[in-house]
Amino acid sequence: MLKKISAAMVGGLLLASTLAGCGGDDGGSGSGGGDDKITLGFSQVGAESGWRTANTKSIQEAAAAEGIDLKFSDAQGKQEKQIEAIRSFITQRVDVIAFSPVVESGWDPVLKEAKDAGIPVILTDRAVDSKDTSLYKTFLGSDFVEEGKKAGDWLAKEYQGKSDPVNIVELQGTPGAAPAIDRKTGFEEVIKTDPKFKIVASQTGKFERTSGKQTMETFLQSVKDIDVLYAHNDDMGLGAIEAIEAAGKKPGTDIKIITVDAVKDGMTALSENKINFIVECSPLLGPQLMQLVKKVKNSEEVPTRILTEETTFTPEQAKAALPDRKY
Ligand code: AHR
Repeated sequence: MLKKISAAMVGGLLLASTLAGCGGDDGGSGSGGGDDKITLGFSQVGAESGWRTANTKSIQEAAAAEGIDLKFSDAQGKQEKQIEAIRSFITQRVDVIAFSPVVESGWDPVLKEAKDAGIPVILTDRAVDSKDTSLYKTFLGSDFVEEGKKAGDWLAKEYQGKSDPVNIVELQGTPGAAPAIDRKTGFEEVIKTDPKFKIVASQTGKFERTSGKQTMETFLQSVKDIDVLYAHNDDMGLGAIEAIEAAGKKPGTDIKIITVDAVKDGMTALSENKINFIVECSPLLGPQLMQLVKKVKNSEEVPTRILTEETTFTPEQAKAALPDRKY
């Protein structure tokens, strides 16, 4: 991931003059006005998970707190809708565009359009695989490969000193999305060092609870002995728990479960020992994003990569953290 975004992205993009005004909470609405407020066009992936809901709230609240005029557009999980929204932001001459790309590939043409229009772009949460890193100013978000490695490290420790085969099923996120690709890569990097670990089935659950449940039902029907479930987010893990219980098995005991995110529902299941370990991925990117928006609007230099600080949770740690959990 770091490699993809490592090249320096210096130099000022010509910022759009404040032709656009305020109003509108949708990428499709027109602009008007003419005050000094910064206008930010933000294209969100959708509302697929508890994480995403918390991320949207964080962005909307931070924009309001900073007096930034937010034009928010929900892509409902579709890349073409995100491209459409970005084009609409360009037409409206917003000051800054930010988005969380639903998938990694296919962004160069629309990013070039933004660059040609002199509108700086900030990536949040997920990266793109564009070779031309001058197409965006910075990327704010987690290291998803690292998250996958943390999941693998916990598993390696849990089964240390044991030699029996460990059958793992994996619920992947949205196909082509950076967190799905990278969390798989990081996890595999760790477990491949010990031949007793075997991923016996791996399919997408699209980061959604219902889809996670359905895919887990398929795993339970087709795989004889499942020892471990690795789910790329809490929501899919929570859906899988329903499927496991419906099959008469005890989640967290008969099948050990590792997930990523640490949203409240996930943490509650962890505190009840239905999940065994959660790798945190923070959705609270709003305040940092708004600071970046102000800086790029003022043509100030910003780091090309800003990493989110994250931890991991065991059931005991979840119990302690839950009363103050914000999302
Ligand atoms: O990109 C972040 C991921 O997207 C979160 O882990 C997942 O829950 C969300 O849908």
